[in-house]
Parts: sequence; C-alpha cells; structure tokens
Amino acid sequence: MGPRLNLIAAACENMGIGIKGRLPWKLKSEMAYFTKMTSQTKDPNKKNAVIMGRKTWQSIPLKYRPLADRVNVVLSSNKIEVDDDVLLCSSLEMAMAQLQQPPLGETIETVWVIGGSSVYKESLNMPECHRIYLTNVKALYECDTFFPEILPAFKLLQDPDVPQGEQEENGVKYEYKVYEKDLKD
Ligand SMILES: NC(=O)c1ccc[n+]([C@@H]2O[C@H](COP(=O)([O-])OP(=O)(O)OC[C@H]3O[C@@H](n4cnc5c(N)ncnc54)[C@H](OP(=O)(O)O)[C@@H]3O)[C@@H](O)[C@H]2O)c1
Repeated sequence: MGPRLNLIAAACENMGIGIKGRLPWKLKSEMAYFTKMTSQTKDPNKKNAVIMGRKTWQSIPLKYRPLADRVNVVLSSNKIEVDDDVLLCSSLEMAMAQLQQPPLGETIETVWVIGGSSVYKESLNMPECHRIYLTNVKALYECDTFFPEILPAFKLLQDPDVPQGEQEENGVKYEYKVYEKDLKD
C-alpha cells in the first residue's frame, strides 16, 4: 500500500477557510499544531509530504515557504516559479504517483493535503483518503473559500496525538476534530 492521504484544515462556523487569499483568523497555537501534525513522523528516516493548490502556496509568506522538513508539492496547470526542492504537478494523480515512485516513494510516510477548496474536494474522493484533521473554529468570519462537505463515511475519532477539548486563543474558541474513513486493503 502507498502512503496514506490525510487532509488538514481549520474552518469556522460557516465552514469558511479563507478570505482574499489569506486566513480569516490569526491563531498561533493552531498554526503550531498544523506544523506539528504535518511534520512529525513515526519513522525518523521518513518525511511527510504536503500537497497544496497554487493559491495556498502563494498565501504562505516567502520566509516560511517551502514549509520546512516536508516535501512540498504545488498543484498548478501553469509553469509557475517554485524553489528547486518543490515538486510542481499539473494534477493530484500525478502528485500522488510521484510521491509513490522512486526516488521519493520509500521516504514518504504520510501525504497531507493542506488546501485549498478544490484540492480538499478532489482528495476527499480518493480511495487512499484516510483522515481529516479539522479544527472547528467556533466563530463566524467573512470568507470567500470553504471546506467541502464531509461525507458520512468519515466518522469522528479520538487521536491521542491531538489535544482534546476546547482551546482558546485571543478570545477565539476552537476544537481539534479528527474524522476517519476505513481504508479497503
Ligand atoms: N483554513 C485553512 O485550513 C486553509 C488551508 C489552505 C488554504 N486556506 C485559504 O484558502 C485560500 C486558498 O485556497 P483556494 O481554494 O482559493 O485555492 P487553492 O486550492 O490553494 O489553489 C487553486 C489553484 O490550484 C491549482 N489547482 C488546484 N487543483 C488542481 C489540480 N487538481 N490540478 C492542477 N492544478 C490544480 C490551480 O492553479 P492554476 O490556476 O495555477 O492552474 C488552481 O487555480 C486562501 O485564502 C488560503 O488562506 C485556508
């Protein structure tokens, strides 16, 4: 079996995830959680990959991209300029294929889809899609980009790596949720 595919996102009460090419909120601990979850591996010899759409890539401040200690994959139908160590792919299938073939194949533990909307939607329908790490931001923000519907095949579960219960930062309450779909062998 190839690497598992997980999604990670933070969405507010209307399932909004973005506004005008940026995040609607500033939650430092939530961002640290994103970094931890997408970076940590069980096998110290392996790395994770992060797959993102071109707009999400461009939304990351220059000093933080490529995202450290992860194989960065950017989806675009155009030949955009990216750093040498970033994989530019013209489809999600191509990205997944490259992450499963040599030389990367043996070195990737988990593939994380980190947005935006259409990339989440497409990956949710892939058979290897295993878990959704969704931060439920308990407030309403004006958004122009949204997380897609979570299908009933995904059930809530408790992950020991994930802080339980309500979190709060700058007066904003939020909770880390994890959904899982059974993978067919
Ligand atoms: N809250 C969160 O967790 C979270 C996470 C991520 C992003 N965001 C926010 O969401 C917004 C950005 O997301 P978005 O949905 O607008 O855009 P996006 O998905 O990041 O980027 C869309 C672009 O990605 C490329 N693309 C997407 N799917 C592709 C595919 N299958 N094959 C080839 N290219 C593909 C296309 O680029 P080309 O046009 O170049 O072909 C497309 O125009 C920002 O506001 C960002 O801050 C929030």
